[in-house]
Amino acid sequence: MTKTTASITAVAGYVPDYILSNEELVKMVSTDANWIETRTGIKERRILKGEGLGTSDMAVIAIERLLKKRGITPLDIDMIIVASVTPDLIFPSTSNIICDKIGATNAWGFDLAAACSGFIFALTTGTQFIETGKCKKVIVVGADKMSSILDYTDRSTCIIFGDGAGAVLLEPTTDGHGVIDSILGVDGSGRAHLHQKAGGSVKPPSHATIDAKEHFVYQEGQAVFKRAVVGMAEVSAEIMVKNKLTADDVAWLVPHQANKRIIDATAERMGLSSEKVMLNIQKYGNTTAATIPLCLWDYEKQLKKGDNIILSTFGAGFTWGAIYVKWAYNS
Ligand code: UT7
Repeated sequence: MTKTTASITAVAGYVPDYILSNEELVKMVSTDANWIETRTGIKERRILKGEGLGTSDMAVIAIERLLKKRGITPLDIDMIIVASVTPDLIFPSTSNIICDKIGATNAWGFDLAAACSGFIFALTTGTQFIETGKCKKVIVVGADKMSSILDYTDRSTCIIFGDGAGAVLLEPTTDGHGVIDSILGVDGSGRAHLHQKAGGSVKPPSHATIDAKEHFVYQEGQAVFKRAVVGMAEVSAEIMVKNKLTADDVAWLVPHQANKRIIDATAERMGLSSEKVMLNIQKYGNTTAATIPLCLWDYEKQLKKGDNIILSTFGAGFTWGAIYVKWAYNS
């Protein structure tokens, strides 16, 4: 019997209009535009402005673009999985809210929190529902309004992150395209280096937590960098070996966009030249769960049917992962 795989049949994204440049950040916090660009690769990032707008609003636009592209309606969708660390609310899930906003009344879904690895974890999860035959159309969306949890007086975090959303549609195929393999991992001891201190059940919101700025991203940059630079390279090389792929076989690396130096180290370890590496960190910064689908959206026209592509990530948790996809269509 021919194996059913989950094929990515469309991709779309959304980034807010407002551009926060390095030069603009210099006016807000003690930093240096050149330092940011040379140490991270980031020149600017997008920020979602507007009262009452949250992660779901960006995801909804990305999903509506996705449906239009594929020529299907919200009623055709079976499931929506949302990867995010900045859900609209603690509960109910942002997936729930999105289903309501777009009128996906035949769908169900849930949120998945794996920080910068969220999209990779969600894509692997969505794939299972297609492979088993349980669902025919699954949307996996990575969306984060990072500006809602950033302290714009903390230069170690506010310079890195931006807002955005990216979505893919998964459908079954038996022609050998789609998600072929994935490797995922976690190491919870890494939580010490990157987390949000309050707002959860251990430390619910209080005047004290707000005064102590504990609802913002806390990051020990160097400790995370050291693990990420090795971790992302290792998992990317591992999935190549596991699937007997040489550097020549790989058409594209789609790396999480956290720091250009981490991306460069990963490409080097895989033996890939920079022309095969998707990069948009310079214009969007680190959009957490949205980086990988936003890269696919930006580079979609350059992708060809049959291309072997490796998606890879490392992030808070620690969490990490890589996915091997055989691209399913020409644009
Ligand atoms: O996606 C989630 C996972 N997150 C990551 O993968 C992030 C990984 N970490 C990083 O990307 C980097 O660690 C950062 C970009 C956050 C920081 O870069 P770094 O090269 O690790 O800087 P550092 O913290 O080691 O600081 C080096 C120097 C220090 O000055 P001195 O002590 O050498 O004089 C810092 O005070 O750079 C200074 N510095 C800055 N200067 C201007 C740190 N941040 C800034 C800044 N602007 N924003």
